[in-house]
Amino acid sequence: MTTLITGARGKVGQAVINRLHSAGLSVRAASAKPAELTVPAGVEVVELVLDRPETFQDALRGIRQVFLYPEPGGIHDFIKAAEVAGVEHVVLLSSSSVLGPDAENDPLASHSLKVERALADSDLTCTFLRPDAFASNALGWAYFIGQNMPIQLAYPDAQIAPIHPADVADIAVEALTGDSLTGRAVTLTGAQLLTFREQLAVLADVLDRDIPVVKITHAEAEEQMGQYMPAPMVGSLLALWAAASAEPAVIADTTQTLLGGRPARTFQQWAGENAAAFTQN
Ligand SMILES: NC(=O)c1ccc[n+]([C@@H]2O[C@H](COP(=O)([O-])OP(=O)(O)OC[C@H]3O[C@@H](n4cnc5c(N)ncnc54)[C@H](OP(=O)(O)O)[C@@H]3O)[C@@H](O)[C@H]2O)c1
Repeated sequence: MTTLITGARGKVGQAVINRLHSAGLSVRAASAKPAELTVPAGVEVVELVLDRPETFQDALRGIRQVFLYPEPGGIHDFIKAAEVAGVEHVVLLSSSSVLGPDAENDPLASHSLKVERALADSDLTCTFLRPDAFASNALGWAYFIGQNMPIQLAYPDAQIAPIHPADVADIAVEALTGDSLTGRAVTLTGAQLLTFREQLAVLADVLDRDIPVVKITHAEAEEQMGQYMPAPMVGSLLALWAAASAEPAVIADTTQTLLGGRPARTFQQWAGENAAAFTQN
């Protein structure tokens, strides 16, 4: 049985491809830009753009199972094409944000929620993985750290439980290869609550240098982030971090259980593995 992995250039997508391939399973890697993909020899590569239905048929031919990155544009057409192709199971890389208040009207959460709802209304068996913030979001600081610039944050004391993308990939592989997760929706977090300030202290320790943190106002952050992100997304992220400053994230014990009892990888581990990304600017 061949599994189709969408979003194959993504951190989780890549890790899932490598794990399934190493286990001797047949994988087809689907990306919006297949020419930019690096996959192990023997992995089939195909173009798939979720708002271009003409790319669906080739990608889905002979596929029974899909690991899906959430993209609401085109999801209804994709589901129809998957049903016609004979797909039986979809494992969705959703987000814990779908559980937040007013998720339907929140630009971050509604992205994943629309895809969850479309899948739930379909004939496909679905598994929803709902991770919290990824440890790899720290890569957003890489340029500034590489340039020896301070990190400016409106909510440096927001407490989150960042999850290592490799743990999300391990659990995705479990969902794709076993039946313990089939049909379930699971929330995934790291095992440790860390403020952004604490994450930066970990990075400073790993890089053996100071990383100054400067607290800025909400309005200043809005203006800065607005230069590279749509305004509704900025508002949503800032609201999330403001809330996490008042009330820390909740650690989901599901993660360790789903990792077979092994503790989740730590932010320290992620920082050690990715140190080079912060020194290459
Ligand atoms: N980041 C978080 O904190 C977080 C938390 C919960 C859920 N999630 C969900 O997890 C998914 C992955 O999030 P992510 O932030 O870590 O993103 P990511 O996996 O690094 O990349 C997301 C996708 O963007 C496309 N892409 C476009 N340009 C790219 C480039 N230059 N390099 C790599 N990929 C590129 C890729 O799809 P193609 O290969 O098809 O182009 C890739 O799979 C998201 O859909 C998000 O909803 C993220």
